[in-house]
Amino acid sequence: MAQPTYTTHAGMVDILPDDVRKWQFLEELIREEAHRFNFEEIRTPIMEQTELIVRGLGQLTDIVSKEIFAFSRGDDNYVLRPELTAPVVRAYIEHHLDQRGGSQKLYYIGPMFRAERPQKGRQRQFHQFGVEIIGSSDAVADAEVIAFMIHIYNRIGIKNTRLKLNSIGDPESREAYKNALKSHLKPHFDKLSDVSKKRFEKNPLRILDSKEEEDRPFIESAPLITDYLSQESKAHYDRVKQYLGDLDISFEEDPYLVRGMDYYTQTAFELISPDLGAQDALAGGGRYDLLVEEIGGQPTPAVGFAAGMERLMIACEELDIPLGTEKHVDLYVVTLGDQARRWGLSSLRQFRNRGISATMDYMGRSMKAQMKDANRENAHYALIVGDNELRENRFTLRNMKESDEQQLSLDEIIVILKNSLTGQKES
Ligand code: HAM
Repeated sequence: MAQPTYTTHAGMVDILPDDVRKWQFLEELIREEAHRFNFEEIRTPIMEQTELIVRGLGQLTDIVSKEIFAFSRGDDNYVLRPELTAPVVRAYIEHHLDQRGGSQKLYYIGPMFRAERPQKGRQRQFHQFGVEIIGSSDAVADAEVIAFMIHIYNRIGIKNTRLKLNSIGDPESREAYKNALKSHLKPHFDKLSDVSKKRFEKNPLRILDSKEEEDRPFIESAPLITDYLSQESKAHYDRVKQYLGDLDISFEEDPYLVRGMDYYTQTAFELISPDLGAQDALAGGGRYDLLVEEIGGQPTPAVGFAAGMERLMIACEELDIPLGTEKHVDLYVVTLGDQARRWGLSSLRQFRNRGISATMDYMGRSMKAQMKDANRENAHYALIVGDNELRENRFTLRNMKESDEQQLSLDEIIVILKNSLTGQKES
């Protein structure tokens, strides 16, 4: 095959029709469950102001410092959204969603962009679904967000996941811990990896997240954040654990779990799958009680998570979980001759208006080739129309699976097709 002249950018992939059916199946399931949990969908633009993302996520985070796709036009600075928590909070403030009363339970599904080094499960354009509960500081909200996340994977049939849980406390707890961590690491500074050396001053917590071998011994002997939590943070964390226990959601406490954005406070969590390889995080989230205020709103506590759709898809493949149904069409109209083609074309409308999916040949092929095409399209029925059929107003309807044929009027055909549709829905 000739090499194509144009291809997608690295880390950006086309989702072709056979895969789109699987995506749609998962998206529908997620929407259905989101509504069951009383989350409402929110849709925001693909592009945001650079300043929102920098302020929201933090200047020194990997995402902001290395991974955003940014450009300007006139005086405006745009970024392709790398995540949706900051944009959703922006929308919450901009449209005064607090005035709708209560806490806002929002969900989203859509594309995000991060200029990371592409590998399996890591793309530059990828998709997330996620939820945010804005306006509640209650640990019940943390538990609900986690329960929704676990529920989705359970419903899909992915059960061998591990929930990692941590509390990174309030800013005071974190400050005390940062100092303790730095005192612990300082004598070993020269032996730390280059990345960790860079993080030492500005973002020492992220050193705990290091994947570099040389950092391991110092991380393993480091003080634990959970020993530095304030009374209030500890009480919140205990309540989250208690509620998860009530919901029979098992978790592992991981005092080294720190997340990649600066907006987190208190609860942090990740859902890990052994089926994913190196990029093993299916989903991650936590509390961000200071973000709304940070980007210009009234102090408002919030909690949420986001999950990678591509990683969900990989896990389903690894576990052989079937997603959705095969491509099919209810009816393929096989036409022989010009008159029949004209009749066939207008008959399509009658079928479609009655909820029957229908197609025909567009290439003027022989009857044999059209029947072959009907098979390829996985048509449940073929309707065969030639001059004789038109004259007599009776047509051949072939049940493709059972290979039997009947001569029928158009009305009778419609009844059979509609009945078969109801049958499909009931089975
Ligand atoms: P995050 O951990 O950066 O959190 O991303 C959440 C999930 O998105 C990851 O666990 C992973 O499954 C997927 N993901 C991230 N980057 C990529 C990539 N380059 N390619 C494929 N999948 C990827 C957030 O985005 C936060 N906004 C989550 C949150 C919501 N926290 C509070 N509310």
